[in-house]
Amino acid sequence: MASARVNARVNARVNLRVEKRTGVRTEIGSFWTSRQRQGHPLHEISYRACFKPQLPSFFIERYSKLGDRVLDPFMGRGTTALQAYIMGRKVAASDTNPLCEQLLRPRLLPPSLAAIAERLDEMPLHGRLRTQVSQEDSRLEVFFHRDVLARLVALKAWFRKRRSTDKYDAVDDWIRMVALNRLSGHSSGFFSVRTLPPNQAVSLSSQRKINEKNSQTPPPRDLAALILKKSKSLLRAGIPHRQEAEDAISLRTCSSYALSYVADSSIDLVVTSPPFLNTVDYAQDNWLRLWFMGIKANTISFDVCASLVAWREFIRKTFVEFARVVRLGGRVAFEVGEVRNGTILLEEEVRHCLTGLPFSEDTTFINRQDFTKTSNCWGVANNKRGTNSNRVVVLARV
Ligand SMILES: C[S@@+](CC[C@H](N)C(=O)[O-])C[C@H]1O[C@@H](n2cnc3c(N)ncnc32)[C@H](O)[C@@H]1O
Repeated sequence: MASARVNARVNARVNLRVEKRTGVRTEIGSFWTSRQRQGHPLHEISYRACFKPQLPSFFIERYSKLGDRVLDPFMGRGTTALQAYIMGRKVAASDTNPLCEQLLRPRLLPPSLAAIAERLDEMPLHGRLRTQVSQEDSRLEVFFHRDVLARLVALKAWFRKRRSTDKYDAVDDWIRMVALNRLSGHSSGFFSVRTLPPNQAVSLSSQRKINEKNSQTPPPRDLAALILKKSKSLLRAGIPHRQEAEDAISLRTCSSYALSYVADSSIDLVVTSPPFLNTVDYAQDNWLRLWFMGIKANTISFDVCASLVAWREFIRKTFVEFARVVRLGGRVAFEVGEVRNGTILLEEEVRHCLTGLPFSEDTTFINRQDFTKTSNCWGVANNKRGTNSNRVVVLARV
């Protein structure tokens, strides 16, 4: 494995405040924004509102040791789980979005580049193709060249067939993950015509308008070459050390408040970040990737709560489940955003959710955030919307 461990505590000039009345400690500093480019390249796939690997790395290093089990029940692209695995921890991760398991699983146990290249040669990505594209799918020609769309449809069928004949393996899984990642985006590195960055998808009608405005039509693409190129990039620093323990990896598609795949008191540390009210529309952002997986986005129940009352109830239910799965003395690092121009501080709302639950507050970390183009990966377009600092409430299971 390449030396991709992230040293998150660089240049952390910390300002510590202790609130007299409650004893709540708040540390304010630059804990994980510095040296942000040092994350392992395997993290480099996009997902709306993902956090940087430096964030979970900071808490994993501070609150867990080798062999401990780290949970993220809102895994997104799997930043916490991948970082924890790289750092020698066992991982449990889930999300209500089935895309997430598919994005993470192959990056925990990647195949070799040679195997990927060989398999790409067997796939319907070269030469003549006789695939029928349904009328419904043909509407996607607003994103994809006719030949590209036909190959994507053929690729979907290939994966279906491999599954139904029990041939689907880790190499297929990797290629499916990379294809999902290359589906649409804003450069020639993606299968689509120029559109939004890959972690967001516009509607068909909006894409039609983008095409008209930019006088563009979807170009032909060499899908196999793009998949191989991205695979090389993801694997350029090697792969994580494979853990021998049979239970080193547990992944599921399920809700944060129904973690039946996690045993009682089995978790040493949770590092996670829930949806921040309704700042992100996960169904809209993921519909195209879900199409490639054969799933309709409107069949998934994302908890994007418009009201604080509903959000508190959702978070409380999640903490009830944390009380069951986190061992005594274990920690929860719960990242929330500053939303609605800072008029709502979700870390304070989290405290309201905990009444009567066996957690005591340890420290709140507020990370100063530089607004660079990377802030987009937090789902933040500018300083006015969404989040402008990372606020992490750390709680101890008592
Ligand atoms: C802020 S994102 C997490 C991003 C993640 N930290 C990463 O780095 O990619 C929140 C996630 O919560 C998921 N989600 C929404 N409602 C959920 C629920 N009830 N249970 C589990 N996951 C849920 C969304 O699908 C989304 O992936």
